[in-house]
Amino acid sequence: MSASQPIPQERVLVLDYGAQYSQLIARKVREQGVYAEIVPGEITAAEVRERGAHGLILSGGPASVYEDGAPTCDPALFDLGIPVLGICYGLQLMAYRLGGDVRGGRSREYGKADVQWLDGSPLSAGLPAEMPVWMSHGDSVMQLPDGFRTLAVTETCPAAAVGHVERRLYGVQFHPEVTHTPSGPQLLGNFVHKVCGCGSDWSMGSFIDLATQRIREQVGGGRVLCALSGGVDSAVMAALVHRAVGAQLTCVFIDHGLLRASEVDEVRETFEGYAGMKLVCCDASERFLGKLAGVTDPEEKRRIIGREFIEAFREAQAGAGRFEFLAQGTIYPDVIESGSRGAATIKSHHNVGGLPAELGFELVEPLRWLFKDEVRRVGLELGLPASLVWRQPFPGPGLAVRILGEVTPERVRMVRESDRILRDEVAAAGLERGISQYFTVLAPVRSVGVMGDARTYAHPIIVRAVVTDDFMTASPARLPHELLERIATRVVNEVAGVNRCLYDYSSKPPATIEWE
Ligand code: XMP
Repeated sequence: MSASQPIPQERVLVLDYGAQYSQLIARKVREQGVYAEIVPGEITAAEVRERGAHGLILSGGPASVYEDGAPTCDPALFDLGIPVLGICYGLQLMAYRLGGDVRGGRSREYGKADVQWLDGSPLSAGLPAEMPVWMSHGDSVMQLPDGFRTLAVTETCPAAAVGHVERRLYGVQFHPEVTHTPSGPQLLGNFVHKVCGCGSDWSMGSFIDLATQRIREQVGGGRVLCALSGGVDSAVMAALVHRAVGAQLTCVFIDHGLLRASEVDEVRETFEGYAGMKLVCCDASERFLGKLAGVTDPEEKRRIIGREFIEAFREAQAGAGRFEFLAQGTIYPDVIESGSRGAATIKSHHNVGGLPAELGFELVEPLRWLFKDEVRRVGLELGLPASLVWRQPFPGPGLAVRILGEVTPERVRMVRESDRILRDEVAAAGLERGISQYFTVLAPVRSVGVMGDARTYAHPIIVRAVVTDDFMTASPARLPHELLERIATRVVNEVAGVNRCLYDYSSKPPATIEWE
């Protein structure tokens, strides 16, 4: 880590033992006004000291501490004098490493439980004596390490919360980070403020000031180039870099011909009007569609679009002089995911707009410490329009991954027109903010229909609308029937070449959100 991070001095490290909730822990800590960062569970005590951590949270995880190959931690972590909170597996790991006993079997708990606090400590200050929590564990701590005492129990869990108050080592068997533990935020707040002694210096206002300062230090008098995709991350990144270095920034917006209706105009309007930002717009649609002709394999489409994007970007930049820096809208979940341990590639989510190192620039990535909700708050504070800040995600390869089979201008038209109808109707129904992502897909089959007195043999359009927190899992949105009917009627009547409209009721998993 460089000294030039735009983050405050006080920080808590979340040691990741493979929990599905590690990101959530970090987000919930940040909501308490304290910067939290996720690090691998095997981090050494020396590295922790180097990072200047004010507190450690050991995450949950699916393993059992006594199994061969279970993730473990450096036992010297507990001698650093830095407060520790173990959550679920994190508690078991701490207890095990400090000489306690952890067993499986007898007291499994999954779901809601009631915790009773027995003994006061800074961890439970102000919490109800009895409170509902979310449990999800097979193992339990059966015997505490020396010096620890039981702070809370449930009916079946003898060590629901434990602590060695003098050494500031605490553990909870339940999950304070999930919404099903209503007092969880207060417990995490107690840990970071009362146990670790952190203030509340993490806010988007303070981030903007620090990031501005850091960007200026990095860039000096140099010139910065960035690619705008029309999405939230690149837009907020550009606004932030522009705040820091003004006219030294040039933004390039490449229209690959696979954008939604009126998207190009919206990006132009927003950024040309944004405090005099320099914007180069490049219409490369013919070139992209030419390269995609005859290609039906989804991964091949992604590869072609990625490659052409880099070429188009290189050319657009060639006329604009020399740049030393490339600013990118990488955000914290991208950083965590690219460091993740061997997760299977379901789709190559290479981000168009994510440019390769060979371009020879030094990277400026001011958002790489932020979660998506924080990026949005920064965008609003920087004065970007709410419509852009709350925009649903749109994949880098654009409509190409919503056109099953070959991408032709005619098929792009069908998806674009139906997508516009869907967006109009969702907006008219006031449901925009209630659905995480919604779009239309063209299926490469045809079916018989009848219009007027004539037989048709045309394509179906599929409407996809999902609700999700993290896009890793998703449920189909429960759209009102009247709305679905109105959309179907309009799509079939107004989009030439379409004679049916279907609603995709699949959840993710086993389906994915996009169709390709
Ligand atoms: P899936 O389809 O994998 O999508 O459930 C999860 C989220 O990722 C987006 N997505 C992409 N984004 N390049 C991107 O930048 C891609 O190739 C890509 N494929 C899917 C998708 O829209 C959803 O938000």
